[in-house]
Amino acid sequence: MNLTLKVWRQKDARAPGRMVTYQAPDVLPDMSFLEMLDVVNENLIAKGEEPIAFDSDCREGICGTCSMVINGKAHGGWTGTTVCQLHMRHFHDGDTIVIEPWRARPFPILKDLITDRTAFDRIIQAGGFVSVNTGGTPDANALPIAKSDADTAMDAAACIGCGACVAACKNASAMLFVAAKVSHLAALPQGKVERERRVLRMVKAMDNEGFGNCTVTGSCEAVCPKEVSLDFIARMNREYGKAILKNSAPRPSKSGN
Ligand code: SF4
Ligand code: FES
Repeated sequence: MNLTLKVWRQKDARAPGRMVTYQAPDVLPDMSFLEMLDVVNENLIAKGEEPIAFDSDCREGICGTCSMVINGKAHGGWTGTTVCQLHMRHFHDGDTIVIEPWRARPFPILKDLITDRTAFDRIIQAGGFVSVNTGGTPDANALPIAKSDADTAMDAAACIGCGACVAACKNASAMLFVAAKVSHLAALPQGKVERERRVLRMVKAMDNEGFGNCTVTGSCEAVCPKEVSLDFIARMNREYGKAILKNSAPRPSKSGN
């Protein structure tokens, strides 16, 4: 199949960007989207031109680095699919495909399709961890966890931090990402000790990075390649509300008055 690509090219963070048109001939249906771009890049290099810069690492849907918007949809819009897992059989001979980077102020473009997503790292640094001493690896079944809690934690832990939820949101909200991380840890006994501190700090870090607020349009859930549910945002809001109430409650005085 022969395709036409319209790709965002931007030399560096400060240079203005523009769409550039390339031809992608002889694309095989079993190629992944990134393999198709690899071939386009090999042809560009052979012609002495600058290859298209894009991020990728695992190429099996688990690292979250292959962030790009395809035909206006983060990761291309196929259910539960990252760009690296998207195959060219979904396209047709003669198609024109528009490829852009994530577009959100907290994710500035570094070059072509690569954005700086370290804002997510800083949110994790603010609280997305367990720092209390949980001891060595416990024996299996020594720490009973209800099946429903384990399932909730696993569903939330599926988040790969790709940022598609932000890219798809008209407010550039990071609520789905933060909610997944907060919910994952709050559901498990190891994460309960710090749950209030965690949610307060992570939400503050999210706001400080300039992400917008959630207006529940559901666009994040629709594009999330790990199908992280909007329910986690409700769960985080409950965590946050409880933490605010607990932290604003008057402390009993030592004299008991
Ligand atoms: S919630 Fe989904 S879309 Fe957002 S960062 Fe996690 S995996 Fe990506
Ligand atoms: S390259 Fe790792 S998720 Fe796509």
